[in-house]
Amino acid sequence: MSLFARGRPEEPPTETPGTGGVIALRDVVRDYAGPPPVRALHGVSLHIADGELAAIVGPSGSGKSTLLHIMGTLDRATSGQVRIAGRDVATLSDAELSALRARSIGFVFQEFFLLEAETALDNVADGLLYTGIPARDRRLLARDALERVGLGHRIGHPATKLSGGERQRVAVARAIVGRPAIVLADEPTGNLDSRSSEEIVGLLEDMNRDGITIVVITHNPEVADRFPRRIGIRDGGIEGDATAAVRPDAPDASRPLHPGAAEGGEP
Ligand SMILES: Nc1ncnc2c1ncn2[C@@H]1O[C@H](COP(=O)(O)OP(=O)(O)OP(=O)(O)O)[C@@H](O)[C@H]1O
Ligand SMILES: [Mg+2]
Repeated sequence: MSLFARGRPEEPPTETPGTGGVIALRDVVRDYAGPPPVRALHGVSLHIADGELAAIVGPSGSGKSTLLHIMGTLDRATSGQVRIAGRDVATLSDAELSALRARSIGFVFQEFFLLEAETALDNVADGLLYTGIPARDRRLLARDALERVGLGHRIGHPATKLSGGERQRVAVARAIVGRPAIVLADEPTGNLDSRSSEEIVGLLEDMNRDGITIVVITHNPEVADRFPRRIGIRDGGIEGDATAAVRPDAPDASRPLHPGAAEGGEP
């Protein structure tokens, strides 16, 4: 069995059982002070269950990235309640929030955000910097994660010498190396050709089959249509929330995909 499959050397205490991948927002408002002031989200309620795979779609400027940043605890709501992995983030200090993020959430962005001079291995190992895992184990886990995304043959390559699709696979490896319960992706295929996009979406689906809750912002209707749930955002609010028929290969086909959707603003 690989080191990756065994999980991290020291498993931290978990939150309430079964809440590791849950994202629950109630009446979330996010104001940017400006000038000019902008209300980017005005009262969003949304429940994403442990193990879901959801797309967020909507026009430019509608509030998708703002929403994702709040789900990822990179940003705090102006008002409303945000519970991530069973924790009410308003009760957590910035240090506690960083710890929750390091333990529970992986990110993938359109721009990859790799350190260009570093190797694929070091870029992925950096994803474990704030976890307390010793350097040697960080590199072993990084190697496993790179093999998992099909880049075992590019471990020593500097980021500058990788293709766009390979860079994004490194970013996916960095996102999952800490075995997070949640992966949030903001336009992960936005800079990729169709073949690389397909590979990245396939990887996200694989991760979801392993039980990771995944939320993906996408402008690509073909990508969104593949996901079991699509959440539409317009003008800072939810304008639609559609769940496809449960796929037989979904992580837990016996359970409703989003039991809290009734509070989620579905028109
Ligand atoms: N730091 C900021 N300060 C002020 N206004 C902001 C800030 N960030 C975002 N906004 C505004 O908030 C609104 C929502 O922005 P957001 O980035 O969430 O949109 P988006 O749906 O992700 O758009 P895109 O598809 O173009 O990425 C926009 O009107 C934007 O101009
Ligand atoms: Mg955005």
